[in-house]
Amino acid sequence: MEPLEDIKKRAWGDIEKARDAVALELARIKYIGRKGELTEILKSLKGLPVEGRRKLGPRANALRQELEKKIAVALTHLSEIKSKKRIDVTKPGKRISRGHLHPLTLVDAEVRRIFSSMNFSVVEGPEIESEFYNFDALNIPGDHPARDLWDTFWIKKEKRGEESLLLRTHTSPMQIRYMQAHNPPFQIIVPGRVFRYEATDASHAFNFYQVEGLMVGPDVTLANFKFIIEEFFKKFFRTQIDFRFRPSYFPFVEPGLEVDIRLKGGKWLEVMGAGMVHRNVFDAVRYNPDSSAGGVQGFAFGMGLDRLAMIKYNIPDIRLFYSGDIRFIEQF
Ligand code: PHE
Repeated sequence: MEPLEDIKKRAWGDIEKARDAVALELARIKYIGRKGELTEILKSLKGLPVEGRRKLGPRANALRQELEKKIAVALTHLSEIKSKKRIDVTKPGKRISRGHLHPLTLVDAEVRRIFSSMNFSVVEGPEIESEFYNFDALNIPGDHPARDLWDTFWIKKEKRGEESLLLRTHTSPMQIRYMQAHNPPFQIIVPGRVFRYEATDASHAFNFYQVEGLMVGPDVTLANFKFIIEEFFKKFFRTQIDFRFRPSYFPFVEPGLEVDIRLKGGKWLEVMGAGMVHRNVFDAVRYNPDSSAGGVQGFAFGMGLDRLAMIKYNIPDIRLFYSGDIRFIEQF
């Protein structure tokens, strides 16, 4: 066979067979690389007589161009096949899962929203407290048996005689901090995390969330408390609710009470402690507790956010909130 014909035939075969870019490159080198078969023929033209050069030259050059083109086309073709493999436009899309909030975060946001709508300010306080704010200023002195109501995580003192620090056992210390820094009248809520040194079970955790409430002014009464708290629960649960206000004891209120609710005629559930701010607490922040002599009075309350969330979403075990179990979290 005539040499150019022969090269063409074999080159076409090689290009056709090539399954990837490497194989194509090898074919290119074999025929038109620096020492390729066709390149050698082109080089040898110089040594031919004019007659032979005229005959062979144009054909050899044309074949070279043809080969280059054929390789380029094959290369594009290969890369098209490859990219088709990566993007199958007929495949159904993957659903992108959106993040969502923890049930306690949802309840916290709802509580803030409702109280804000009733003109309460939302404030927060430190989780590490001093003995003074957590206990003494709230009318719970060191030797008072009422301290046993709160099993406390104490923080080890670095030096003797240093102030005692602890993980706050309730959000009530913010009552004191807020009153020290502000003048009445005002109304606030204080959502936040609290800690208790307790064994855990379905209804107890060593940390949980509370919302404190405090409203102080010249003429704030328990009637105001009753109205506001009933409004709150109606807005929060959006269902028919019965209320029960029972006398109870907390050192920082007098009188003290507990609030029970009953949803749609179900079981009575204890949901908060409350009462009129004790005059010793007002004394501790230098408020005048004699409302008849230009002083102030007010109510305070404290409730567990976890408990509200458990009732609202029918959650049987408080430990689920802190389990980090994705199967639990994903349901909200
Ligand atoms: N701080 C109390 C508790 O943690 C709740 C409470 C707050 C009671 C305010 C009365 C008034 O149990």
